Amino acid sequence: MLEVPSPSVTHAPPPAEAVAPLMRGLDVLRRLTDADGTLALAELARATGLARSTVDRICATLAHLGYLRLDGRDASLAPPLMAIPNACLDALRVPRLLGPLADGLADRLDESVSIAVPDGDDIRFVHQVLRRRALSISFRVGDLLPGEGSAPGIVFRRGVGLAVDDQLVERGLIAVAMPVRGPSGEVVCAVSVVSHTSRHSADSLPGAVREGLSGCVRGMEEVLRDDAAVSGLRPGPRSSSAGGAGFVHALARGLSVLTVFSGERPALTLSQVAEATGLSRATARRALITYEYLGYVRQDGRLHRLTPRVLGLGCAPLSRTTLPRIAEPHLAALSDALGESVGLSVSDGEWVRCTARVAPRRVMSVDIGVGSRLPAGATAAGHVLAAGSGESAEIATDGPEDGLWSVAVPVRGRDGHVVSALDVTAHRGRGERAAWAEALRATAARIEAELRVTSRFVTVPRH
Ligand code: PHB
Repeated sequence: MLEVPSPSVTHAPPPAEAVAPLMRGLDVLRRLTDADGTLALAELARATGLARSTVDRICATLAHLGYLRLDGRDASLAPPLMAIPNACLDALRVPRLLGPLADGLADRLDESVSIAVPDGDDIRFVHQVLRRRALSISFRVGDLLPGEGSAPGIVFRRGVGLAVDDQLVERGLIAVAMPVRGPSGEVVCAVSVVSHTSRHSADSLPGAVREGLSGCVRGMEEVLRDDAAVSGLRPGPRSSSAGGAGFVHALARGLSVLTVFSGERPALTLSQVAEATGLSRATARRALITYEYLGYVRQDGRLHRLTPRVLGLGCAPLSRTTLPRIAEPHLAALSDALGESVGLSVSDGEWVRCTARVAPRRVMSVDIGVGSRLPAGATAAGHVLAAGSGESAEIATDGPEDGLWSVAVPVRGRDGHVVSALDVTAHRGRGERAAWAEALRATAARIEAELRVTSRFVTVPRH
């Protein structure tokens, strides 16, 4: 049966078995998420009330796990952290099962459509299809809205069959939500159609969308009836190795518990968690007790499930990203290593448009600004993009101006299609093209890995 677990909100002191370093690490991740992804380390210390040295150790540990990026005084959430919200989205199963039907409704109505589940007294988005970007504000997957006022919140709180949000959540925004029920009649999620006062009023929107929305809800309820829960057990990743002095093992071990949940294994016993993580039963038990205390896990008999609160660990800021933003730190590292200008571009008709570029600081460097366009035929990036998803290797070519070398490799999306081209461009006669190609491919692979984890449940714009 499909069930969306609700976290139990608690203000009691933590149980004696709770793992303090895990609680601190989760607090850091949550505060970074609420700050939209980046905070100064000093600010994190102030916000959490932890000693600066403790914050430094927690952040170094999270950085070692790939979940954070440390950049001078700032800590930023990094795309690999999406593995944790992804485990939750997968285990909830609603996005994967019902997302395609929401996409279809958005196409038919040409309006934004979202799916939300309850999270304590509030609601959390687990799927979003955005339409008419310019006029609709864009909540993203993982965003939390107040239960009071938002259309899905009213559906859950009052048990009504249709609710309207008339600019309560945001000025200009009108939303209509309906409940979607599971096979035993329980409300599993709410589907909303979201419009704007420039197109509809709170009076006109329900009439305009009711038929389409009810049809979509019926389709979703059918999918839920046909869905038989699978709970087969397959071995998960073993817990990771040491990360040097100061590494907070208790935090790393605790976090590994979250990623063993999935669509195939949405509910696990303590023994299953211990087996899948490679942790001892005692360690797994203490991690589960910690998560349950904080509302990230709910226990139901012998089974443990993730709650939508897990999406509060990085999901919204990381899913608001774009390909150039994912790529930028990797471009900077490559530009540093080669001492050359490194860029990312997309196809734009007969042109290629630069979407990101990092150039070394020196007198004679290639000057191609972000947003600038070059004729596709004259650049290596253009050749790579024109070759599409075929066997496109790097191509060296003259141009984009006389005296320049440009070598480019494709960057592929989750589905294997070429979404962008990564290039090194330099004045002829400098650098070694063979070494460039290899370094470009390694960088492209890193960008692709982060793009894959980020775009599992959300759409990542190419520019
Ligand atoms: C949204 O999906 O952005 C949305 C849905 C319902 C609301 C407000 C916003 O009440």
